Amino acid sequence: MTISPIKRLNGEIRVQGDKSVSHRAIILGSIAKGVTNVTNFLPSDDCRATMNAFRAMGVSIEDINGGTVKIDGRDLYGLTEPADVLDMGNSGTSARLLCGLLAGQNFFSVMTGDSSLRRRPMKRVTGPLRGMGANITGRRDGDLLPLAIKGGELQGIHHRLPVASAQVKSALLFAGLYARGKTSVEEMPQSRDHTERMLTYFGIKLGKEGNVITIESGQKLTARDISVPGDISSAAFFMVGASILKGSEVIVRDVGLNPTRTGIIDVLKKMGALIEIIDLRDSEGEPVGDVRVVSAPLKGTEISGEIIPRLVDELPVICIAAAVAEGETLIKDAAELRVKESDRIAVMAECLTLMGVDVETFDDGMRITGGRQLKGTVCNSHGDHRIAMSMAIAGLVADDEMVIEDTECIKTSFPEFEKTLRQLSVV
Ligand code: S3P
Repeated sequence: MTISPIKRLNGEIRVQGDKSVSHRAIILGSIAKGVTNVTNFLPSDDCRATMNAFRAMGVSIEDINGGTVKIDGRDLYGLTEPADVLDMGNSGTSARLLCGLLAGQNFFSVMTGDSSLRRRPMKRVTGPLRGMGANITGRRDGDLLPLAIKGGELQGIHHRLPVASAQVKSALLFAGLYARGKTSVEEMPQSRDHTERMLTYFGIKLGKEGNVITIESGQKLTARDISVPGDISSAAFFMVGASILKGSEVIVRDVGLNPTRTGIIDVLKKMGALIEIIDLRDSEGEPVGDVRVVSAPLKGTEISGEIIPRLVDELPVICIAAAVAEGETLIKDAAELRVKESDRIAVMAECLTLMGVDVETFDDGMRITGGRQLKGTVCNSHGDHRIAMSMAIAGLVADDEMVIEDTECIKTSFPEFEKTLRQLSVV
């Protein structure tokens, strides 16, 4: 992708549907009783991986026009053994959430993924699932895909998450639907809670005491229609873009504003950004609103501790805001970045350094000294969609053309990114 510097971003957009919510809509719709219609479903490679896995397990899922999907739910015990290996592509969410669900099934399944996903740690889910009685084998003692899963006959457990992870929490709650007795998950700090909200929306009773979430088996899901909010992780690129390009004004309509996801807004505001939420409303259990961003000078900040899970996917684009901001930005407690679609600490440091930014990295974060004019250059996303899109935003304020290599990956989460960016660009 080639990005030329532009004057500003201006206009009103909608971003495509939320990736986390789209995955969960397919999963819960498939095991609910009745038909679930999903509108504004994200037709990305990641969400298609989840959709295809359920099709392979006998669920009829009609893809009406990419963004509207009709799922004929099979009820809790209606999935059938897949005849072939399930391919999760690049999607960590598909792999980890499905591990939990497959652990509850009384059949055999095998899952794999692309070269990036086959490097990502799975023990965080396979460990506690084995503790519940699932029979899981895989490379490096079940830490790496491909994994073979023979589930059923699970026993509920209490599991304390060693690192905040909505994927692990969700996997265990799904397994808990099938386990004897109670399954509880303790998390600190809190990760995104779309699973809890959607389970409740489908009629499941969850217990919540402090930071412990409990699910009891023997409950059934009732199909209900879902309209997926715009993905705040996609909107984030334009929030940063509009903040750093002088004279910009952007409104993003119908963005999901679940408080477990809005860390990006809090941090940008702390850096001096002018962001306003208009018309905050409820959409089937998820808060939604319009976000207006006007450009403003940014200053460096510190990002650490409990806020990290609330903005974990936005850290690459926050690095771009930091590179433009006056002064230093320190990111800490973010070791999880090293095991995302790429090692996001190493790859962002590499790309920013090529643009002339001063970056120091640590095991769990980085220090970025901002304020210098960014240099147009050639960088490589290492197959990571969020790095590719973040570098495109950096290119908008560079002194020269920016070439980003390996941008195919963008379609895992935001296939319309470039089109939306062009729509807002004033050249
Ligand atoms: C996700 C959870 C997060 C996030 C990922 C989506 C989800 O991962 O980074 O993009 O939909 O549950 P972790 O659970 O590994 O933190």
